[in-house]
This record gives sequence, C-alpha cells and structure tokens, in this order.
Amino acid sequence: MQLGEEKPKYVRRMFSAIAQRYDLANSLLSLRRDAYWRRFAADVAELSDGGIALDVATGTGELAFELAKRVSKGGVVGVDFNAEMLSIAKQKAEQRGIKNVHFTLGDALRLCFRDESFDAVLVAFGLRNFAEIEKPLRELVRVAKRGGRVVVLEFTLPPNRFLRRLYSLYFFHVLPFLGGLITGKREAYAYLPASVAEFPSPEEICKLMEKAGLENVRYHLLTLGTVAVYVGRRK
Ligand SMILES: C[S@@+](CC[C@H](N)C(=O)[O-])C[C@H]1O[C@@H](n2cnc3c(N)ncnc32)[C@H](O)[C@@H]1O
Repeated sequence: MQLGEEKPKYVRRMFSAIAQRYDLANSLLSLRRDAYWRRFAADVAELSDGGIALDVATGTGELAFELAKRVSKGGVVGVDFNAEMLSIAKQKAEQRGIKNVHFTLGDALRLCFRDESFDAVLVAFGLRNFAEIEKPLRELVRVAKRGGRVVVLEFTLPPNRFLRRLYSLYFFHVLPFLGGLITGKREAYAYLPASVAEFPSPEEICKLMEKAGLENVRYHLLTLGTVAVYVGRRK
C-alpha cells in the first residue's frame, strides 16, 4: 500500500472513522493482550515518581494512562494529530478522574516541545502510521532528556516461519473481517496488516533508532513475536 504524500490525510481520516470503536476493537482483536503490551512498554521506560513522560500518537490515551500511574506526582503529555481520538482520551481521563495527563493536538514529525524536555518518550502503534520513520525518530530523541528512554511499541511478524504463516492467516484475512464487523470500517483493518508487512524488520528499526541518537538499543518480542517493544537511551 503505497500512499506517499497522501498518507497523513488517509491516516487521519481512517482514525476519525474508527475512533468511537477503536478501544473495543483493540481489546477484542488482541484478546486483551494490548493492555499487557502497553504495560510492558511503560515498564521499560523506567520512569519514577515525579517524572515527566511524552506519549506520541497517544490516540485514545491508554498508554498515557499507564504512564500516569508510574509518574504519580509527575505528569504525562499525550500528543496526537487526530482530534476525534484525542477527544475520547480526554473523556476517559475525566471519567476516571486522572489529573496528571494532559492531551494536546500535534504532529509527531514536528513536536512542539523544547529539546530535552521529557524523562521518557514513547510511541505505541504510531511509528508505522507516520509519513516517514527517520524524522519522527529524531524528534522523539530530541525532546528526550539525556539518559532518558525512548520506547517504540509496534506490531511485527513472528520470526518463526511456521508461526508466521499461521499468524498471517489470521492477520491478513480474519482480522480485517472481524475489524470490519466491530467498527464498520473493514478498510482500516486491511490497512493494519498491510502497513505491518511494509514496516522495516526489528533489526532495521534498531539501526534507525541508533542513527537517530540512541544507545543501548534493544528489542523485546511479545506474544509469539507478533509485537515488538524497542527501547534505547538518549546519548
Ligand atoms: C494505532 S493508533 C495508536 C494509538 C495509541 N498509541 C494506542 O496505543 O492505542 C495510531 C495513532 O497515531 C496517530 N498519528 C498518526 N500519524 C500521526 C502524526 N504524524 N502525528 C501525531 N499522531 C499521529 C493517529 O491519529 C492515531 O491516533
């Protein structure tokens, strides 16, 4: 799926169309594993009480809420370029009485924060949706404090060939069908596996993270290698 310059428009429209059912679809299609993946990503960010974290492409805010538990007296900023997704995040924060998260509109390719502002910067299921990879990675690094963690959570395909074939049946055929049933937007759930298939391998992502200015870059595969959590430290 080559979208070129049209990608940001396409992605924004797609998330506007599924925003209301996004959380439900995530939960059902991942058998609730998505909550565990975000918890894992929040853990490797190594935040402590009083810390300040940034969740880029925060969507409906689930990772931001997970981070908020860890920083307690500190704070979390969730940024996304889609107003519909953010409005759901804000509603949830209000309903749950979460006070230490602030949501704001913004573009991952041009983050409106000063250099070295955050103790940790994270992006969950966002990088694959950006118009490019290297520029947003440099932005994540730029706004992280020296020594702070940059964490990327993203889908990947299982490295084991047998598992990959089996999972591909679900991912490329069953998931678009079920995603379509849940949200009424099958196209969005056909885009998901297509964008994962086009996304660089975990080794390539690690190299790009190093190139962007991170050290000690490594990745953890979760849930049979269907999801990867990348982490590096800002030099
Ligand atoms: C798959 S959702 C992930 C949401 C959330 N992080 C999660 O874990 O569920 C991808 C999000 O990336 C956002 N997004 C895509 N491109 C963006 C960009 N250039 N800047 C900011 N947000 C972007 C979309 O609006 C959408 O909310």
